[in-house]
Amino acid sequence: MKNKVITVNYTTGENYKELSAETCQLIKETIAFAANAYAPYSQFKVSAALILDDGKILKGTNVENASYPVCICAERTLVSHSVSNYPTNIIKIIAIYVDKQLPSPVPPCGLCRQTLLEVEMRQKSAIEIILVGKDDSYVQFSKAADLLPLYFDGKSL
Ligand code: THU
Repeated sequence: MKNKVITVNYTTGENYKELSAETCQLIKETIAFAANAYAPYSQFKVSAALILDDGKILKGTNVENASYPVCICAERTLVSHSVSNYPTNIIKIIAIYVDKQLPSPVPPCGLCRQTLLEVEMRQKSAIEIILVGKDDSYVQFSKAADLLPLYFDGKSL
């Protein structure tokens, strides 16, 4: 019998404006885009944005439905758009924002973590993930896999 420990490295900060100019621009656009969220049922407005390897910024929000299971999270709206429209580009950074005052930035749900992992594995290049709070604080992961320890991927099949 063996006891094992999983360690995840991540960075936190009080204000995203201390990050690089490119990252700050991405985060500013993510925050502004939360106004586009369609969340009439939960009032929980989420936005996400990414930078591709050619510098292009793409954005997405959660899109809810009266039939609740049909709701899609901002992260999966965004990644589906990116993968289908820019299949050969590499995603470098994804920022995620929730338009609600909470004690800390909100991490993505399990479905979104699995989705982000698939994209990262497919492109064979780490995707930096930055969670941003309404108070401008942030939590930064250097790759999507760090959000899903002991993940299931295509190699498991
Ligand atoms: N939501 C996201 O957009 N991303 C997540 O990672 C968690 C949850 C959305 C789905 C739903 O519209 C609302 O937040 C409440 O769950």
